[in-house]
Amino acid sequence: MEILRSKEALRHWRKNQGYPVGFVPTMGYLHDGHLALADAIRTVAPSAVLIASIYVNPTQFGANEDLDAYPSDFEGDVAKLAQRGVTAVFVPSDTDMYPTGKDKETVAIVNETLTSQLCGASRPVHFGGVQKVVAKLFNLVQPDLAAFGEKDFQQIRAIETMVEELCFPVQIVRGATVRESDGLAMSSRNAYLTESERQVAPLLQQTMQATRTALQAGTSFEQALQASQDQLNDAGFKVDYFECREARTLQPITEYNPNIEQRLFAAAKLGATRLIDNIAL
Ligand code: PAF
Repeated sequence: MEILRSKEALRHWRKNQGYPVGFVPTMGYLHDGHLALADAIRTVAPSAVLIASIYVNPTQFGANEDLDAYPSDFEGDVAKLAQRGVTAVFVPSDTDMYPTGKDKETVAIVNETLTSQLCGASRPVHFGGVQKVVAKLFNLVQPDLAAFGEKDFQQIRAIETMVEELCFPVQIVRGATVRESDGLAMSSRNAYLTESERQVAPLLQQTMQATRTALQAGTSFEQALQASQDQLNDAGFKVDYFECREARTLQPITEYNPNIEQRLFAAAKLGATRLIDNIAL
C-alpha cells in the first residue's frame, strides 16, 4: 500500500498507472460500506487499479457540526483498504486541497435544484463543499471510475450531475447501501450513538420499510408519512425529513408509481447523532 501524503507524491504515482484507475473518496473511519465501493468498481472494471483518499473535508461541515469530533483510525483504515486490494491512499493536507485558504476561495460549484432541499435545507453549506472537494479530488487523482454509496443518495445525484454538466471524464459507480444485521445503514457517524441509542436506531429503517409497504398498498402519502414521523418522534428521534421523491430529480411526489424510480428519504437526529437513510419504493 502506497501512502501518498502530497499532491506531488500523488502525481508521481498516477503517472505510473495504466488504465483504468478506480477511485474511492472517503473521510476515513472506514466500514464495510466504504470497502464495498472498491468491490463495486471491480464489478464494473475487474482490472482497475484502486486508489482511495482519506480527507475530512472542512468545507462540507457547517459551523455547529462535527468537524472536530469526526472519528478517525488511520492505521485501521490502511489495513482494511490493503486487504480489499486498494493499492494506494491519498491523504492530502488542507493546503493541498485549499491552496488559497478554505475560506478565501472565490470559485463555487452550485446546484440549487438538487442540493437546497432534503439534507441541504438543514445543512446549507454541505453540498457546495462536497461538490468542490470531489471536483478537486477528480482533478488531482484523475480516475477513470469513482464510487459513491447510495446511502448518501442526494450526494450521488449532485456528483452525477456535476460530472455530466462539467464533462468530467469519470464514470460514477453506485454502491448499494451496506447495513448492519439489524438493518441500520452503516455510517462512520454510528460511532457517536450511545448503547441505548444504538438499540433504537434500526427503528428508522424498520419504519421506512413499513411505510413503503403502506404506500404500495395505496395508503395516502400524507397519512402514511405523517404517521411514520409521529412514530419515530415518539420513539425518541427528532425527524428532520421523511419524504418521497422522484429518484433522478429529487422532486417531491405525492403518489406511488411503479413505472417511475421513486425513493423514500429520511433524516433524523437520535441524541446528538444525525442518521440518514433512503430506500427504493
Ligand atoms: O461521502 C463522503 O464520505 C464525503 O462526502 C466525500 C464524498 C468523501 C467528500 O468529502
